[in-house]
Amino acid sequence: MCGIIAAASNRNVGKLLVQGLHKMEYRGYDSAGIALHQLDKIAHLRTLGKVKLLEDKMIQEKPKSKLGIAHTRWATHGEPSEENAHPHKSNERVYIVHNGIIENYLELKDYLKKEGYSFTSQTDSELIAHLLDFYLNKDKTMIDSMYMTLDKLEGAYAIAAIDKEDNKNIVVARNKSPLLIGLGTDEFLAASDPLAISQLTNEFIFLEDGDVAQISADDYVIFDESKNPVDREITKIDISNQATSKGDYKHFMEKEIYEQPQAILNTIDGRVGGDDVLDNIFGLGSSELFEKVKRVQIVACGTSLHAGRVAANWFSAISELPTQIDYASEYRYRNPHVDENSLLVTISQSGETADTLAALRYAKEKEYISTLTICNVPTSSLARESDYSIFTNAGPEIGVASTKAFTTQLAALMLLALSLAKSRDKNPKLRTRVVTAMRSLSDTVQETLKLRDVILEIAPEIASKDNALFLGRGIFYPIAKEGALKLKEISYIHAEAYPAGELKHGPLALIDEDMPVIALAPESEIAEKLVSNLEEVKARGGTLYVFSDPSISMDLKAGRLINMPKCDFLLTPIIYTIPLQILSYEVALLRGTDIDQPRNLAKSVTVE
Ligand code: AGP
Repeated sequence: MCGIIAAASNRNVGKLLVQGLHKMEYRGYDSAGIALHQLDKIAHLRTLGKVKLLEDKMIQEKPKSKLGIAHTRWATHGEPSEENAHPHKSNERVYIVHNGIIENYLELKDYLKKEGYSFTSQTDSELIAHLLDFYLNKDKTMIDSMYMTLDKLEGAYAIAAIDKEDNKNIVVARNKSPLLIGLGTDEFLAASDPLAISQLTNEFIFLEDGDVAQISADDYVIFDESKNPVDREITKIDISNQATSKGDYKHFMEKEIYEQPQAILNTIDGRVGGDDVLDNIFGLGSSELFEKVKRVQIVACGTSLHAGRVAANWFSAISELPTQIDYASEYRYRNPHVDENSLLVTISQSGETADTLAALRYAKEKEYISTLTICNVPTSSLARESDYSIFTNAGPEIGVASTKAFTTQLAALMLLALSLAKSRDKNPKLRTRVVTAMRSLSDTVQETLKLRDVILEIAPEIASKDNALFLGRGIFYPIAKEGALKLKEISYIHAEAYPAGELKHGPLALIDEDMPVIALAPESEIAEKLVSNLEEVKARGGTLYVFSDPSISMDLKAGRLINMPKCDFLLTPIIYTIPLQILSYEVALLRGTDIDQPRNLAKSVTVE
């Protein structure tokens, strides 16, 4: 993961580099650092911990510079420490920041040691600085040295490098890790994410794999992998300040939970008509393509995978299509058999998740009829490399725990289920029913948010425990899994999810007064069976917190029955997600954890 940023300007860049790092802390936040060119020397500051600590150091030392690079880290090779923080340097001359993983780092380290270089960190990144220095000492330019260095590297990287002997230029390179150039006023910038420099420009160039570029305050030049100068398209993106600040909320997660009614409207807007989904909303020719689809293969990670698990049920019920679903990190390693006319669907908030991207690239070599992505970031690698796409339009999601990204992914996946069904001429009445329900979905989510008061009452009971079980059946099992993921991710309470009918096959042994059980009990054809499963928990002294349809009655000895707002059954997974998000948030708040940046995690997982 990690976030990198670079700036060449006619003004001081220290502050804007640190501001950029703050905006990329979602990519990692275990240490941070900066290297600033000061003509006769390079100021090199690194701190263990969040960007704020680097900022404090900058305030104390006030280094001035018009050219610099900076980094916020999520440790892969080597523990979080000041020595392992970027920028790394070689011979007080070359300074680099790197995002990605160098797979052949041991071999290259050995080679460089034999050439007389010594290493001060445990990272795979430091060797990049040494390789650049090695070639610069052979009278090569920085651009030539970068190409010669890249020739030796295996793996994924976005790199920015500066040379003490050159106070004008920064050289950057990209392969399988995101990197873009920002076209500012009297300055050029580079960063892992447009968000990092969105206050400085709305014009970006997304570099391609193999590209090397040089930026200065007045100009930029890009070369492709064969070292030919290339023109890359300039993309305009406006990211408002409001979208990237917390406003009156305590945490981004809280803000993002409350943004869901609007975010869902944005996902659906312009994509459904009076009584059906509109044609070609996944791209020109998508409706025609969908006529031929016979099977769907979903790959995703984490929360996005849970959205896929819900959608697999919808593809079956609405589109009458069989669906296979895999963890993106596992998919390539099971030698998947691809049936004729199978559609590959990836789901990702960031569109940069390395496992999902690698799965897409692998699938493109297979016999899929096409590839399609559900993504929140239109400029992401996944969006650019997929044949078809739909954007969830949720706005930037900053909290590490995914909330609005998930519910909007579900809305977009429902659009996909409807589109596949429409092209395949399946279930027209059902489609009209669902489209009608989708139009009031945002209002129902708004109503569901009012459950916060009830949740505030039960949160202390969960916060005082070390474990929790989540139960759901059928289409609600993935929602139970999402609830458990949310709780463990931000409150560090161990939580697991089961289809309620599985309890008696083992997990029931865990039930006692210290095991809160959170159950999802909507009105459904298996509601009675679910209630029986919950009775089994009750009989063993378990405390139940049941989110249920008002028609379900249960006499709970301990715990709570919480009535949920009514909604079309096929859309209820979206509604039942909301109280679980609020519950995790309130529990984490009580436990005093770092909600937006939980320990050991990062928002965008760009390493496999
Ligand atoms: C969930 O709260 C996590 N942030 C995580 O599971 C996330 O969904 C996963 O890493 C996939 O990310 P993506 O959607 O950006 O691909």
